[in-house]
Amino acid sequence: MTWKNSLATQPNWSGEISRLDEKKSVAEKVSRFVEDGDVIGVGSGSTSYLAVQAIAERVKKEKLNVEAIPTSHESLINCSYFGLKTTTLASARPTWGFDGADEVDDHKRLIKGRGGALFAEKLVMASSPKTYILVDESKFVSRLGEKFAVPIEIDPRAIHLVETALTDYPVEKVKLRMAEAKDGPLITEKGNLILDVRFSRIDVGLEKELGAIPGVIETGLFIGYPVEILTM
Ligand code: A5P
Repeated sequence: MTWKNSLATQPNWSGEISRLDEKKSVAEKVSRFVEDGDVIGVGSGSTSYLAVQAIAERVKKEKLNVEAIPTSHESLINCSYFGLKTTTLASARPTWGFDGADEVDDHKRLIKGRGGALFAEKLVMASSPKTYILVDESKFVSRLGEKFAVPIEIDPRAIHLVETALTDYPVEKVKLRMAEAKDGPLITEKGNLILDVRFSRIDVGLEKELGAIPGVIETGLFIGYPVEILTM
């Protein structure tokens, strides 16, 4: 049986998608890499949403046997709407994956997490031999941190401990990410908070150093992962 209610039968990206043509073109490009039997790590965000759509169309048309590992409730719902079968990291390992990014530098280092899904995005990326990063031209920067703050997901009890520990780093500003349709802070899918931290300098070792602060669950710095940058 299938669900027939409106949430199951209407696409789930409500807002307007910026740079839609570029994003559609890169989404179509990644859909060509799909092969029968693949287990695909599925990122979050608007570009990934378009890629799920493009991949699902190919899968349906060519009757391919493909499973997806989503990185958020958002991407799970999108896979389900477009008809991609899903599984989890607990039962399968991705053959490859795709995701978007907020910033990409010349060394393929990334900032991710605008949508708050950084924790699962990193789990899936770290599990995949290769992840295609789908970006439009606006995502390229000469210095990481140029446009975006680095999101840091933290246990709510560690808010003051982590902010205090951050004073040892070249931090310009720390902002607690606030929810939009709820009073107070945004709560992640794992019940945590996000600090958006502006650094004046991001060194290669920063991702690991921040990860070692007690209370830090994950950061939106993705440095040294096996990624291939894909543009239109
Ligand atoms: C989700 O938490 C993010 O990491 C997204 O992957 C990133 O913000 C890219 O999103 P867009 O594809 O919407 O630009």
